[in-house]
This record gives sequence, C-alpha cells and structure tokens, in this order.
Amino acid sequence: MIFALAAGSLAACGQKGSGSSVSGSSGSAAGGEVKGSSGITIGLSIGNTTEERWNREIKMFEQYCSDNNITLKEQVANNDASKQISQCENLLNEGIDVLICQSLDAEGAAPIVESAHEAGVKVIAYDRFIMNSDLDYYVTFDSVKVGETEATFVVDAAPKGNYIWLKGAQEDNNALLVAEGQKNILQPYIDSGAITIVSEQWCKGWDPNEALKHTENALSKAGNDVQAVIASNDGTAGGAVQALAAQGLAGKVPICGQDADLAACQRIVEGTQTGTCYKPLQPLNTAACELAVAVAKGEDPKSGVESSLGEWQTLNNGQKDVDSFTVPVEAIDKNNMYDIIIKRDGFHTLEEVYKNVPKDQWPAQK
Ligand code: GAL
Repeated sequence: MIFALAAGSLAACGQKGSGSSVSGSSGSAAGGEVKGSSGITIGLSIGNTTEERWNREIKMFEQYCSDNNITLKEQVANNDASKQISQCENLLNEGIDVLICQSLDAEGAAPIVESAHEAGVKVIAYDRFIMNSDLDYYVTFDSVKVGETEATFVVDAAPKGNYIWLKGAQEDNNALLVAEGQKNILQPYIDSGAITIVSEQWCKGWDPNEALKHTENALSKAGNDVQAVIASNDGTAGGAVQALAAQGLAGKVPICGQDADLAACQRIVEGTQTGTCYKPLQPLNTAACELAVAVAKGEDPKSGVESSLGEWQTLNNGQKDVDSFTVPVEAIDKNNMYDIIIKRDGFHTLEEVYKNVPKDQWPAQK
C-alpha cells in the first residue's frame, strides 16, 4: 500500500515538472498537493470523486497549478458534507490565499464561506452553488439549460407515453436547476396529456444504485409500460439502463444524462442511451483557476478570466447576487459524438467510445 502510493506520487511528479512538484494521491480523502514558488496558494475542496468528472477536474487543477508555479492544497470529502467543512477549516488554518469549493450540500456549506471570510480568504464556488451565504464568486455551467437539453433528447424521441423521472441529489442546487430545466420542456406535454409521469424520484447523492432501484420499482408498478426515462446525469442513467436491460427494454426506451462520462458515451454509440449534455470541463476549470489567481493577486477578477471561455452574469444564492462565470454546454448524441467529444475536444478517444462496436461501424476518422 505504502509502496503503491509512493509509486503513484513519483509517476505524478514525472508528468509535471516546470519547477513544481506534486505529492499525495488525487482523489484520496487525504488530498494531494502541488508545490509552486510563485507565492500563491490555492485551497481546493472537492466533495467526492464518485463521478468520473471530478477526477478529471482534480487533475486539471493540478496541471494548471503545476504549469503556473502555484501551490495547490487539495482535499476530497468522500461524500461527507461535515467532513468537507472540517477539511476547509484545515486548509484555512494551513494558510491559503483563495478557496475553490465544489460543495456537497448547497445550504450546509455556508459556514465554509463564513470561516473563510474570518480568515480573510475569498471563496469561489466551483460547479455547485453555495446558497444563503456571502459567497464571493461562482464558476459554473447553466444547469437549467442542462435539464432542457436532456429532456429535449427524450421528448423528441418519445413525444408521448409514460415517463420515469429521475432527479439528482436534492441537496445539490444543480439538481434543482436541472429538474427545473427538464420541467420547462416536459410541462406542455404533461398539460396536453401526451406525457404521464409514472414515477418521480430524487436520487440521493446522485447514486446510480438509487436510480436502479427507483427504475426497477417504477417499471414493476407500471407493468413495464414505460416509454421514456429522464435521468439527470450519466451515472444515474447507467443505473436506470441496468434496470431497463433486465426487462429487455434497454435501447427501446429513450433516456438522457449529463457529463459525457465514458460509459454514457459508449451507451450512446451502442444505442442504449439517447444523448448526454456535455459540459466541457477544461474551460470551466481554466476559468476557475484564472479567477482564483486574479483574486489571490488582488487583481480585477473579471478581466482575469479569458472572456472566450464563457460569460459573466450574476446569480442569486438567496442572500446576494453573486458574480458568476458561466460556461456553455452542448447536446451530444451519436451523430456528433465523433466530431465534438472525440475529434474536437479529445474528451475520450475513438477506441474508448467505440470499444464495444464492431470496427466496420466506427465513424470514418476525419
Ligand atoms: C452536479 C454536476 C453534474 C454531475 C453531478 C454529479 O452537481 O453539475 O455535472 O456530475 O453533480 O456529481
């Protein structure tokens, strides 16, 4: 175990260079650290590494800090919201110039902002809003748009019938916004009687097993008479597809997700998931890093972030209008999977996405 960790750190060090060093292992509860000599220290608190995206994003933070000679102190709370609070307090005690926080509990994270301010440190909420607090900045995607994109895939494919509606983690404000976006699309169909929601459930902690269980229950309640599933992210879509597959319905029942997780991209090209709402993580991450540096240096935050990455607006967190930087999202289905996910962004490789598809059906490489 000790040997494995040491080997991992050495490997990480080998990849970085440029005067910075990396220690610790990404994704561990203990967190990792990038050491830089610029004099800037960023504290990073990540709620969990259950979904594929957060692991990628931790690496992106490490890369940015390594490239720019910034010290990064990171902590991962392993889905434990109270642990996240104490980890942030530790980071503040160790001494950081700015805190980037991907919160587990939108309301429950407010004390983190309070403690940071007591220590004279500004807080940037990353991806997930921190509600009812004096939060300084927010860097995110438009989650209402995510929900609209998801539901559009499904209503286009199944404009009428019985729907299972799987929402995300209720304590994550993004889940509420995603559900709001889904509702924007679904409501006219519900009102006209074309669509009937036969089951509507939150999936605790965005857990795929919750989605599996809710879908199994809903299918048995409806005697398998279900024409579509609205899932809120790719992880929960995976759980639902497993339940559909057990009834021979995978590929027959349209279903959506978000994040362009590898497993979801595979399902899309294999025909068991209709589409995913892709959130380009690199621009989000770069924007957060650039903002953090501007804040740490006491420079104008708005001009610190490259404007091509997204746009500034204000979003209200229940207590104040927070300066928020929003990065656009994109709808991905099997028709644009190759062009956007594989070729343009290299988010996954052709080999990864098409792994289970016979080679003669792979897209021609352009
Ligand atoms: C949300 C996030 C999504 C998804 C989900 C599960 O807050 O916006 O991209 O990954 O969490 O972690």
